[in-house]
Amino acid sequence: MPALPVSRRGLLSAMATGLPATGLIAAASPANAAEAEAPPPEPPVAPPLATDHGDLPSFKYHFADSRKKETAGGWAREATVAEFPASKALAGVNMRLHAGAYRELHWHALAAEWAFMLSGHARTTVIDPDGNAETNEFGPGDVWYFPRGYGHSIQGLGPDGCEFMLVFDDGAFSEFGTFSVTDWLAHTPPEMLAKNLGVPAAAFAKIPDRELYIMPGTVPPPLPLEPPVGSLVSAPQTHRYPLLAQRPIEAPGGTVRIVSSKEFPVSTTMTGVLEDINPGAVRELHWHPHADEWQYYVSGQGRMTVFGSSARARTWDYRAGDVGYVPRGYGHYIENTGSDPLRVLVVLNSGVYGDISISDWLARNPARLVAEHFNLPLDVVARFPKRKVIIA
Ligand SMILES: [Fe+2]
Ligand SMILES: [Fe+2]
Repeated sequence: MPALPVSRRGLLSAMATGLPATGLIAAASPANAAEAEAPPPEPPVAPPLATDHGDLPSFKYHFADSRKKETAGGWAREATVAEFPASKALAGVNMRLHAGAYRELHWHALAAEWAFMLSGHARTTVIDPDGNAETNEFGPGDVWYFPRGYGHSIQGLGPDGCEFMLVFDDGAFSEFGTFSVTDWLAHTPPEMLAKNLGVPAAAFAKIPDRELYIMPGTVPPPLPLEPPVGSLVSAPQTHRYPLLAQRPIEAPGGTVRIVSSKEFPVSTTMTGVLEDINPGAVRELHWHPHADEWQYYVSGQGRMTVFGSSARARTWDYRAGDVGYVPRGYGHYIENTGSDPLRVLVVLNSGVYGDISISDWLARNPARLVAEHFNLPLDVVARFPKRKVIIA
């Protein structure tokens, strides 16, 4: 059967009949995106801030507006450039695997995969082009990174599987960019599989005839505490990083944890930042000179203003489950507008973390220069912070 694309109707009917649909991938083509009746872009806050002005694309998306693809093993929903047009350079997938269920063996041709475990536990396997393989287990707050093109799978563990957020460093990673092993073998003659794998062609008579994507499986036994002597074939660089275990950077209004290639060498193309912002506090005005920023609002509520040059600035309100986006170089800040802590997961498409913050920038210029820019008395400028505030 043709693998791609499937129409929305086809996808829904496949789901209704219990047959595995071809993929989230399908919704990403322009025709299908229109057919999927993507929700209208989120308008800026109402009433708009007096300082908001001009036109910018929507930098807010509700993950709940994405169609969930459900199978017997779990579900997934995605926010690619098809659903969230502003997010050209990064895309997200929210996935749930029941205990034992697999996200099947696959690779991504266009993008690296960065993940943050939201709840539960999973086990992954990954192989690199040198044949190094690694198996890891992940709990809440753990991060994985699989370079573009590396083969991998994910399995939900007991007692209740897991839910995680995947981020890819290409907004169009999904369409024609995700290659699944069942899809591949279903489109390979059994005689070829027989030659390749050394068993009779008849052995392949009942393999799946299409992509399974997510399928039920058996909860595996625990990994041995120590691998048997002489058995270890480990990757030279680990693919797991326990982000919540990192001692956070303490700021006046909250904390920040950063995992770039400095802390996690395999993660050469992406950096994660976990921001915990206290009620009323603000992640200060800043920009990233060499990265686009993808955000997932994990808990709490906040408000972000994005400044896009030429008198363009727009503000959106965000709650848990929302996605935000900031193009490279655009100025932005996030305020916690709720009464609970605000947690934002930020993923940037560079393995080197960098930002320039307003407090640090002004502090490193002569006071008179700053005073004359803003028509401020020198004694006011003298009270500005002397170093990067991060969260005020
Ligand atoms: Fe993947
Ligand atoms: Fe930022």
